[in-house]
Amino acid sequence: MADDLTIIRSASKAEQYTSLIPQIKALLDGEPDLVANLANIVAALKEQFGWLWVGFYLVKQDELVLGPFQGPVACTRIAKGRGVCGSSWAQAKTLVVPDVEAFPGHIACSSLSRSEIVVPLFHNDQVMGVLDVDSEVLDQFDDIDAKYLEEIVKLINW
Ligand code: SME
Repeated sequence: MADDLTIIRSASKAEQYTSLIPQIKALLDGEPDLVANLANIVAALKEQFGWLWVGFYLVKQDELVLGPFQGPVACTRIAKGRGVCGSSWAQAKTLVVPDVEAFPGHIACSSLSRSEIVVPLFHNDQVMGVLDVDSEVLDQFDDIDAKYLEEIVKLINW
């Protein structure tokens, strides 16, 4: 059940992910609805890590369109190749941005955001959207986040 989410504090980042991933699997198990599943993934990540913004953008025709998220209100549409999200889509790869001000073309949905990671969602070798996470802390994300967030987005039932 959703209200059984166990949040662990004062553990390493890897331990926090390894505690959370089976719980996300359980939340998604048997639920075919995409929006419901994306909503629970962002809620679980936000509860465990407390980042500024966690959300999905989904590819709709030639744009990314805002999907389920938690955090401040955000830009609704992003063109392919624009910003970190549109670049991750265009390059079909995870982008870790230690300092958003140093990323050419970064789209500042929140002036509080300092660092960011964007992970593409794949289905049948197509990019279906991206998971975007923003932090108020510089250099928040690294290869550990990339590895586990990539594992988490593979759990999505398309
Ligand atoms: N910063 C992103 C835009 C989305 S918001 O951060 C929620 C980008 O440059 O693509």
